[in-house]
Amino acid sequence: MLKTIRWTGESLELLDQTRLPQVKDYIVCTSYRDVRDAIRDMKVRGAPAIGVSAAYGMVLAAYECETQADSKDAFLECLAGRAAYLISARPTAVNLEWAVTKMLDKARETDDLAEIPEALAKLAEEIEREDLEVCRRIGKHGAELLGSSATVLTHCNAGSLATAGYGTALGVVRAAVEAGKKIQVYADETRPFLQGARLTAFELMEDDIPVTLITDNMAGYVMSLGIIDCVIVGADRIAANGDVANKIGTYSLAVLAREHNIPFYVAAPISTFDFDIKSGSEIRIEERDGKEVTEILGQRIAPEGVRVFNPAFDVTPHQYVTAIITERGIIHSPCSESIKKLLEADEEYVPEGELR
Ligand code: MRU
Repeated sequence: MLKTIRWTGESLELLDQTRLPQVKDYIVCTSYRDVRDAIRDMKVRGAPAIGVSAAYGMVLAAYECETQADSKDAFLECLAGRAAYLISARPTAVNLEWAVTKMLDKARETDDLAEIPEALAKLAEEIEREDLEVCRRIGKHGAELLGSSATVLTHCNAGSLATAGYGTALGVVRAAVEAGKKIQVYADETRPFLQGARLTAFELMEDDIPVTLITDNMAGYVMSLGIIDCVIVGADRIAANGDVANKIGTYSLAVLAREHNIPFYVAAPISTFDFDIKSGSEIRIEERDGKEVTEILGQRIAPEGVRVFNPAFDVTPHQYVTAIITERGIIHSPCSESIKKLLEADEEYVPEGELR
């Protein structure tokens, strides 16, 4: 699979996801502003991938601040301003804020000013490596939920392209395939940005995993045919009570899955949990340019002047979530208590009587 993010030591190369699958090209970011633009314009997207990219954006910011600041305080002030700018690129995915804050904390705790850029570069590489490792662990846990032969419905792209590699929801699919299970995937096209049609279909086909593309409004019918064993999606932010913000359309899928008695799984790293917020109603939902709705790939499809509402995410109440698959294990029937238990557990978390 093509690498989503490449760090050269001086610049960040991002696989331009707005041009896939037709064009496989990298854009080169040489400043934190380039990284911020790439995140805002969704050249790189997916909660973990924007977190990793922003971490490298902070390294580029540190290189710049180093040339401008004559004291550690001045340096930190410079870096904090750039951190806020990076975080402002997209509001819903918590991983962005999480990674940038981690980088800023590292700069604060590094005594010698001259050592900060190097320390930040190391940390960004660590965040990237960890993300890949975490995805593999999510995959391993999630694969246990799938039978020896299963059909999975997914939404948006929570795959290798949305992470440092392997993926969360698609990581579960990959791990199950690697374990010898016969898995096929139905992918929602995911209007308006078409991450399912352009990215999920592309990356599964690259890996020879059978995939069938449907439009979003076909999901209910496909479920009614009895051919879907489970739904697996990723997440952009999970509240302390288990409410899940993910790509617009996820909530409708969860309600449909409940109606058809189909398990609805969310695959996400611990870094996607936001323990500062009690429920999904506190999650800020990004609204994007109406052109994403009135146009398809630059081609106008709606009348000029029509009013548009374009929320990029929605919130699925935890009652609709059968389980959340994390790198530490599976949280069945997620709620404040089961999630708190996971946070407190220093070893892999398996609820009593569940699974193994
Ligand atoms: O707007 P996007 O493409 O960044 O939205 C991506 C999603 O909603 C993903 O499901 C989520 O970030 C999880 S990616 C592992």
